[in-house]
Amino acid sequence: MKSVIITGAGSGLGRELALQYANEGYHLILVGRTTETLEEVKKLITNAHVIVMDIRNKQEVNEKMKSIFKDYEVIGLINNAGIGYFGPFEQVKEYEIEGMLHTNVLGTMYMTQAVLPSIYELEGSFVMNIISTAGLRGKVHEAVYVASKFAVRGLTESLQKEYEATPVHISAVYMGGMNTPFWNRSHHVKDPSRFRSPKEVAKIIFSQREKDCLVIESK
Ligand SMILES: NC(=O)c1ccc[n+]([C@@H]2O[C@H](COP(=O)([O-])OP(=O)(O)OC[C@H]3O[C@@H](n4cnc5c(N)ncnc54)[C@H](OP(=O)(O)O)[C@@H]3O)[C@@H](O)[C@H]2O)c1
Repeated sequence: MKSVIITGAGSGLGRELALQYANEGYHLILVGRTTETLEEVKKLITNAHVIVMDIRNKQEVNEKMKSIFKDYEVIGLINNAGIGYFGPFEQVKEYEIEGMLHTNVLGTMYMTQAVLPSIYELEGSFVMNIISTAGLRGKVHEAVYVASKFAVRGLTESLQKEYEATPVHISAVYMGGMNTPFWNRSHHVKDPSRFRSPKEVAKIIFSQREKDCLVIESK
């Protein structure tokens, strides 16, 4: 059974992508920092393995990914984990800037570097980067988040060229707002319930996963 690694798989879109890929017959490697939420997703899937890990920790990422390749036939990586802090640029705190860049950019790079060398020659292999429409255009009160997502877009487009001659499919997904716990600690969005559900977005992503660039605008 082929395995797919999903970061941030304990909630929101990552959780729904895990359920979607499990339904389609994949084994899932569920990555996140919170044991309870990951274990809850695992219960719903059964064919899954939980890795409690902070993707900002390069050494931990390398060690845990190395051991995963010994036990599982990994075919794909979905870089989904991400955080956002919003507000006027002048008021964004240092820990917020570092948190977003470390998680969204460096974490994505660490995971990709740890996984890509073991899969890029496999037929059907893939790396999918969950970005945001914030990776397509600037937005008011989202400057640092947008900057982090533009960085992931640049990484993705460059890797698409670098690995063009290999079987690995590298893709970028840019979606608008989703109704997920992402908005729980922010007043930036007044009513996230008007957004698409992560389940709806996960279905669209799975059905169009062959695209190099998938844009799912807000409703
Ligand atoms: N919600 C939206 O409107 C929206 C729109 C466009 C794009 N996105 C993007 O979609 C992706 C998924 O977000 P979501 O909306 O589903 O939000 P979410 O429910 O908050 O999911 C983010 C996940 O990332 C995990 N995570 C955060 N930091 C981590 C770290 N350092 N190491 C490992 N895991 C970490 C979190 O789990 P732990 O805290 O337990 O680690 C959480 O499960 C993000 O990249 C986000 O930027 C969201």
